[in-house]
Order: sequence, then structure tokens, then C-alpha cells
Amino acid sequence: MPEIVKTAAMIIARDLKTLRSAAKSLGALGLVPTMGALHRGHLALVAAARAAGQPVAASIFVNPLQFGPNEDFLAYPRDEDGDLAALAAAGCDLVWLPDVATMYPPDSASTITVAGPALRWEGEARPGHFAGVATVVAKLFGQVRPAAAYFGEKDWQQIQVISRIVADLLLPVSVVPVPTMREDDGLALSSRNRFLTPTERLTAPKLYAALSGAAAMIRQNGDVEPALARARMAVTAAGMTPDYLALVAASSLEPLAALTGPARLIVAARLGRIRLLDNVPVR
Ligand code: PAF
Repeated sequence: MPEIVKTAAMIIARDLKTLRSAAKSLGALGLVPTMGALHRGHLALVAAARAAGQPVAASIFVNPLQFGPNEDFLAYPRDEDGDLAALAAAGCDLVWLPDVATMYPPDSASTITVAGPALRWEGEARPGHFAGVATVVAKLFGQVRPAAAYFGEKDWQQIQVISRIVADLLLPVSVVPVPTMREDDGLALSSRNRFLTPTERLTAPKLYAALSGAAAMIRQNGDVEPALARARMAVTAAGMTPDYLALVAASSLEPLAALTGPARLIVAARLGRIRLLDNVPVR
């Protein structure tokens, strides 16, 4: 019999046998996949899964496959004790804590590459990133076998990529997007925000302000390019370097020159050594 470790009512699984036995005993699960360093945004995903009346599983795995060679895999924040305490307090039923050997056994030879919504924006800026995300998320789905999985809208493109693989590979799971949680000044919550210096922290909310201003302008008069140009100028004037700031079709992530259907304004901008991502709905 696998050993099941419980914190209050929460089961902590570190091997597949324990995970499968716990998942089976809990029934149709809502899964919150994470890389740890949890904040209120992650806990809102747990709350959304609980509100759907499901037992909730969260996974914590800093996935090496989705980091490029010059990215911050080693420096990515890790706080297992704090995360477990936060998940227990949030009413999580099961936590899956796999190690690298479990996720990527030495003989594993398959990765999932995604075209369509994965091609542009983060796909261009971070080659290989979405293959890493798609592969690990498909593995997590195969391990936990959840009925639903919850993802934050802050990573809008990631949600579209995951929805694509779920549709293309007929994975039996519902992808549930949850609105972005923000600080009072508008900054989208992110595990990497802790690396902002106090001065950068004052600058960072200007990204959301620029996006919101552009979204309002596009909704009001439909002029996309002037609104984007103004927002790019505002971001640059605040001391950030935009990698992209674009109006895109909400599902395909194709750039839009006019508001012709469901659309999202998306942005990535560098501030010091941090890359900030954000997006807002336009329609
Ligand atoms: O959004 C994240 O934290 C990660 O990309 C995810 C979905 C947990 C996959 O590693």
C-alpha cells in the first residue's frame, strides 16, 4: 500500500502510486497546476475549483522544460513549506509534488509541440516554452486525471495553447480560465513580482494602466493602431521596454487591425531584469 501523508485534511503525494490512490479515493477532481511560490492568484484558482463543488488537487512542479537556457529556472522562487500551508488553508484536498525523474524519466522521448496560438508572442520570445508547457500539462493531466483544470487569465496565451491541445488530443478535461488577480494599483499578481525593486514596483502598474487606456480607446472609437502606439509610448516613457503590445484574436492570438470579434490586448515588457506579462479583454 502506498504511504499517504496528510496535513490536516490535505493529502501530500510525492510518488505516482500515492497520487493515483489518493485521486481515485477523492473522485472527479479540479486540478490547479502550479510552479509553486504561490500567491493570491493561485489561491483564487483553488477557490474557483472549490466553488465548482469538486475536490481540489494542486500540483507544484518547477518545469525545467519550459525555461530557455538563459532563463531563470534555477532562480525561480521556491517555497514548498509556505505553499503547502497556503494550500491547506485554502481547502485543497490533494497536493502533487513530483520530482524531475517522475516527470521526465530517462527513457521518455515525447514532447508536444503546438502551432496555432503558440506561434507568436511568447512563442517567438521564448522558443520551446510552449512545448514545455504543453508537455508538462498533458503529463499532469495523465497523472492526476482531473475532470477540470484551472488556469489564470494572466497567462492568456498559455490558456489558449492548453485549450488547443485539449481539443486536438481529445483530452477528457475542461479548461477553466479564472480572471487575473491584481494588486490595488492594478499590477497583475505574479510569482516573479517579488524580484521587483521598490522603484520598479512603483513603475510596474503603469503597464496595466497603459493597456486599460488603450482598451478603452479601441472600444470607444475603434482606432486600433493609434491606441496601440499611445500605449507603447506610455510603457516606454515609464521606463519599460515592450517586447510586444498588440490587439489579438482571443483564441487564435492572430494580430487584429480592427475589432472584428472577441479580442484581447496583450503585452510583455521588460522592467529591469523582470519580464512583465499582462492582458485585458477588449470585447
Ligand atoms: O502557469 C504556470 O505556472 C505553468 O506554466 C504551468 C501551467 C503550471 C505549467 O508548468
